[in-house]
Amino acid sequence: MKTLIFDTMRIHKIILCTFLIAATVQVASAQHQLVIDTQKPIADIAPTMWGVFFEDINFAADGGIYAELVKNRSFEFHNPLMGWKVKGLSVDKGELLIINQKENEEINPRFVRATLSTENEIQGLENEGFRGMGIKQNENYKFYIMLRSLEPNVKVKVEIIGNEDQIVGSNIINATLSQQWNEYTTTIKANRTIEKAKLRVLFEGQGIIDIDMVSLFPEKTWKNRPKGLRADLVELLNGLNPGFVRFPGGCIVEGYTLDERYQWKKTVGPIENRVLIKSRWMDEFRHRAAPDYFQSYGVGFYEYFLLSEDLGAEPLPILNCGMACQYNSKEVASMDDLQPYIDDALDLIEFANGSTQTKWGKLRAEMGHPNAFNLKYIGIGNEQWGPQYIERYKEFHRVLKEKHPEIEIISAAGPTTDERNTYLWNELKKLDADIVDEHYYKPPQWFLENATRYDSFDRNGPKVFAGEYASHVNTDNKAPEARNNWLAALTEAAFMTGLERNADVVIMTAYAPLFAHKEAWQWNPDMIWFNNLEAMPTPNYMVQQAFSLNKGDKALPITENGIALTGQDSLYASSTIDSKNNQLLIKLVNVSSNSKSIKINTKGSKVDPNSQIVIETLSGQLDTFNQVGSKNNFSKQQQKVEYNKGVPQLEIEKHSLTIVKIQLK
Ligand code: AHR
Repeated sequence: MKTLIFDTMRIHKIILCTFLIAATVQVASAQHQLVIDTQKPIADIAPTMWGVFFEDINFAADGGIYAELVKNRSFEFHNPLMGWKVKGLSVDKGELLIINQKENEEINPRFVRATLSTENEIQGLENEGFRGMGIKQNENYKFYIMLRSLEPNVKVKVEIIGNEDQIVGSNIINATLSQQWNEYTTTIKANRTIEKAKLRVLFEGQGIIDIDMVSLFPEKTWKNRPKGLRADLVELLNGLNPGFVRFPGGCIVEGYTLDERYQWKKTVGPIENRVLIKSRWMDEFRHRAAPDYFQSYGVGFYEYFLLSEDLGAEPLPILNCGMACQYNSKEVASMDDLQPYIDDALDLIEFANGSTQTKWGKLRAEMGHPNAFNLKYIGIGNEQWGPQYIERYKEFHRVLKEKHPEIEIISAAGPTTDERNTYLWNELKKLDADIVDEHYYKPPQWFLENATRYDSFDRNGPKVFAGEYASHVNTDNKAPEARNNWLAALTEAAFMTGLERNADVVIMTAYAPLFAHKEAWQWNPDMIWFNNLEAMPTPNYMVQQAFSLNKGDKALPITENGIALTGQDSLYASSTIDSKNNQLLIKLVNVSSNSKSIKINTKGSKVDPNSQIVIETLSGQLDTFNQVGSKNNFSKQQQKVEYNKGVPQLEIEKHSLTIVKIQLK
C-alpha cells in the first residue's frame, strides 16, 4: 500500500546525512532489499531526456535573460513613452514629439524628435528599466543610442541614477552627429550596486535631434557577447546541462488571436528592425496584469538557437500550427490559408540548417553563424486539442515528412491529461506521429500516483515529450516563491523516477515555467526566480539538476521482490548506468516522514572493491522554499564511503531524494 506524504505536513527538522555502511549501521525499520539487474537494460536514455523549456512568461525574456536594461527602448509600446520620463522638454509646446514614420511602418515605426534649446536647463529622457535597472559596482555598462541630427554639435550626456537621484556613473558621447541615422555608444562604470537604478540621457545644445533604440547593457554578459544575455541566468541553465532547449513558449506561440501569435521571421535580422508585439501575459491574469509586458524580440530565434548551441542542447522550436489559443479567441486559420504557416516551418528548417546560398541560410550567416544549427526537432502547435488540430497537424506532417524526413515532429496533446489528451493520442498514433508533447500542472498527490503513468504505455506508438510539468502546491504563504517548496520538488522527484524507468518511451522532459522575475511574474511556481541583481534556484531546480547530471545512458531495472518501486512504503526508485564509466546511478525518493533502510544488490556485476560509494542527498522540511535575495535553504549533502566488499546498505532520510553512485568492476 502506498504511504501518502501528507502525514508529513508538520514541520520537521532536516536530518543530516545518515548513510552508513552495513557494518556500522543500526537498522531503524524493515530493510528493503533492492536488486539492480545490471545485465538487463530496459531502455536507452535519450541524450535529450532532461531538458529545459524557455518560455517568455514572467519577464523571462525582456527584463530577464535578455540583458537589455532599457524598457521600451524604441518607443514602440502602445503608449510610446511608457517607462520614460521627459526631462525639461515641453511636450505641450512640441519640444518632444513621437514621430510615426510612415515609410518604415512595418519595421521601426516610431522615434522621438526633440527640439533642443539653450534656454532649457536640462533636456532629455529618463528610463525606469524593468522594475528598475540592476547595476553592479565596478562593472561597465555599454550605452547605445541611434541618433540623427542636422546639428552636428549636440552633446549627449548619459547618467545612471540611483535611488536618491545620486549619479552612479556617467559619460558623454563624443561624436559629431550625422544627418543619417547612426548608432553612438559610450561606456559607463558604476560606482555602486543599485537594484533599481534609472538611466538618464541628456542633451546639450540646440536644434532638432531624432532619437531611437536607446539601450544599456552590462558589458559582462553570457560569453561577453555585446548586447547579449544575462550571464547569471544562463549560468543556471548551463548548470542543468540540458539535453534540449524548447522555445519560445507556451501560449505566446499561439497568441490570444492569430495576429498576436509568435512569428519567428519577425524576430531575426537587425534588432532595430524586429517588430515588437504585446505579450499575451500582459493581461492574461487580471490579478497579475503587466501593462508594460511586450516582446521586443531582442531575444529572437537566432539567439535561441545560439543559446541551445552554447548549452550543448538540441534546439527545439515550437511553431504556430494555424490556431490561436483555444482558451482565448479559439481562432483558427482556414485550411485554405494554412500554407503560410507551413512555409514558416519549412523556412525555419532552412534558416537553421540550410546552406548559406539559400535565402534563410544566408540570413543566418549574415547574423554571424554560417554553420548550420543542426536542427533535428520541430514542434507544431503548443497545447492544441480537438479535430481542428488533427486536421491542421496532418498537413504539416504530410509536407514536412515529404520535404524533411530527417526532422522529427513534436505534436500537441492538449493542455492536460483528460479526454482531449486521450483523443489526440489515439489520432496521433494513427498518423504515426513521432513525439507527443504532454503537459501536466497537477497537485503533489497526482505526481506520486502517476509515477507509473508510462509503465503501461504503448511501446510501439509515438514517443513521449513530458513538455511542461510542475507539482502545484497550495500554501497560505504569500511569498511568490512559496509554491516552489520541498513538497513540490520531492513529489516531482518521485514522478521523475517513473520517467526514467520508462525512458524507452519518454525521451524528453521539461519542468515549466523556467524563469520568473520576483516583481513581474504572472505564473507560479517557476524553476528559477530572479530580481534585477540576483537569481535563486528553487528546490525544483535542484531536483532537475540531480537527475540531469546523473543521467547515464541505459535504464536498468531496480526492483524489490521483482517489482519496481513506485510508492510501496513511500519509496520510489530508478536506476541507470553510465556505460562508459561503468557506474550505476541510482535515484531513491523517500516521501515518508520516516527514514528507510535499504540494501542494494547488483545482480550480474560486481562492485569495484576499491571504490567509494558516493551518496548525495537533497532533503528539507516540506514547506521550505528559497527566496531571491536570501540564502539558499537547500544544499546537496555528499558522502563518500568505502565499499569494503559488503553489500551497499544505507539509511535514506525522510523526505529525501538520494542519488547513489556505485562503481562496478
Ligand atoms: O507554462 C505556462 C503555460 O502553461 C504555457 O504557456 C502553456 O503552454 C501552458 O498552459
